[in-house]
Amino acid sequence: MNRKNILKSSIAAAAMLFSLPVSAAPETATVTPLFDRIDSTLTIPAEIYGQFAEHLGTCIYGGLWVGEDSPIPNTNGYRNDALQALKDLKVPVLRWPGGCFADEYHWTDGIGPRDKRPVMVNTNWGGTVEDNSFGTHEFFNLCELIGCEPYLSGNVGSGTVEELAKWVEYITAQDGPMAKLRKENGREKPWKLKYLGVGNESWGCGGSFTPEAYANEYRRYQTYCRNFNGNRLYKIASGASDYDFNWTNVLMKNAGRHMNGLSLHYYTVSGWNGSKGAATEFSDDDFYWTMGKCLEIENVINRHDSIMGVYDPGKKVALIVDEWGTWWDQEPGSIPGHLYQQNTMRDALVAALSLNVFHRHTDRIKMANIAQIANVLQSMILTKGDQMVLTPTYYVFKMYTPHQNATVVPLDIATSSRAVRGDRSVPTVSATASVKDGEMNITLANIDLDKAAEVTIPLGIKAKLENGEILTAANIADYNDFGTAEKVTLRPFTGAKQSKDRLTLSLPAKSVVNLTLKLQ
Ligand code: AHR
Repeated sequence: MNRKNILKSSIAAAAMLFSLPVSAAPETATVTPLFDRIDSTLTIPAEIYGQFAEHLGTCIYGGLWVGEDSPIPNTNGYRNDALQALKDLKVPVLRWPGGCFADEYHWTDGIGPRDKRPVMVNTNWGGTVEDNSFGTHEFFNLCELIGCEPYLSGNVGSGTVEELAKWVEYITAQDGPMAKLRKENGREKPWKLKYLGVGNESWGCGGSFTPEAYANEYRRYQTYCRNFNGNRLYKIASGASDYDFNWTNVLMKNAGRHMNGLSLHYYTVSGWNGSKGAATEFSDDDFYWTMGKCLEIENVINRHDSIMGVYDPGKKVALIVDEWGTWWDQEPGSIPGHLYQQNTMRDALVAALSLNVFHRHTDRIKMANIAQIANVLQSMILTKGDQMVLTPTYYVFKMYTPHQNATVVPLDIATSSRAVRGDRSVPTVSATASVKDGEMNITLANIDLDKAAEVTIPLGIKAKLENGEILTAANIADYNDFGTAEKVTLRPFTGAKQSKDRLTLSLPAKSVVNLTLKLQ
């Protein structure tokens, strides 16, 4: 990957890093729902809980797909344990086939009889030989089994306009040559395809374009991606990474009116050169720095949003955060280039804090896709042979499912803060709230590693506390491993007390708690 072009702007942005609001309050927090500020048009799109599956390491092969002949229990080749876990998670949308892989992927290699499909070398990810046994049909059938929307990443870097246009036709047309080919391959009915990404990281692994050149390519490619038989494409242009505000500016200026969404990639990573740090071994200082880096995404979103607003004040073009999450050194002994990393309670807190930020920006952010769904970076599930573990991040996503499609309740949060490397600081308590179907869910996270936070929630409405759930761990570096009992899992939380319209709770150190209230 070539990230040089974002390095300069990263340095420039360092000055604004961690410029978070700091309160001088003691180790207590007040979280006040602002019901009078609810905007009923601002629901949390379920797609903010989107996932990403790339042909990378064992994300697809082994993690999701084992083939019909595998001794691992499967349904038509998809491992049963993964299917069940992902159904339980209510995955709304799945991005595929990359990532960097997408711009070297030729979809015609992945259709037809599996034993006749050509093999290729996955040059981005460890030089692994890719046999194309998981292709278009396998992906769309997986989405049907999980019950999620497919999100295709098209090849711009090494593909052609014709190739992408025909892929869309193959998938969505009822009649014509591509539909005939699809039918010959066993699928009579067209699939529905909404989300179409036109390239990935086109500034880097997706073609090393300048923003001006890519904007022109984007305009050309999207022109020929047609709406067949009532299918309506939602076209997403390949956007900036991190602090590359110029990319967003040029794309919006030159191509903004031809897109439904513009992507943004932001990883919680300590640097692109050298060590990123181990997933399971880190100091307290590393931990707090990670929380700050994770929360920094809000400043990055604000900057991209305001640039988009110059060209699109009505917010018709969405910001699609289609890659985010933690990126650590891959586990010792794992295959180089496969980006396999463990997932601890630290990752769970990154997930919670990031989702809280996305909830605050639903006027612009309409989808986010954590990287990645299985066995790569900040995964939901990890697999080893026939074993599977659910990660702490999985449990945060599970805890947050009631927020999908709910209306945001703005919060006023008064909290203490933690110092991070010198004069920087991060707020101790972070929270989000939403209402849906007569229910309110308030989710709170305490990043302090040692102290509980005494939290008061003046509700301001009639509601009855019904349920509480907590995710925490004895140690911040705890994770769930194969063949042992889960160390990090959801448990009931009974520590919240209600007195009339006021809730109080002692929010344990390094925890995420969800409270469910029935509105009266
Ligand atoms: O998620 C791993 C990689 O990170 C993706 O392939 C690429 O888009 C990004 O650089």
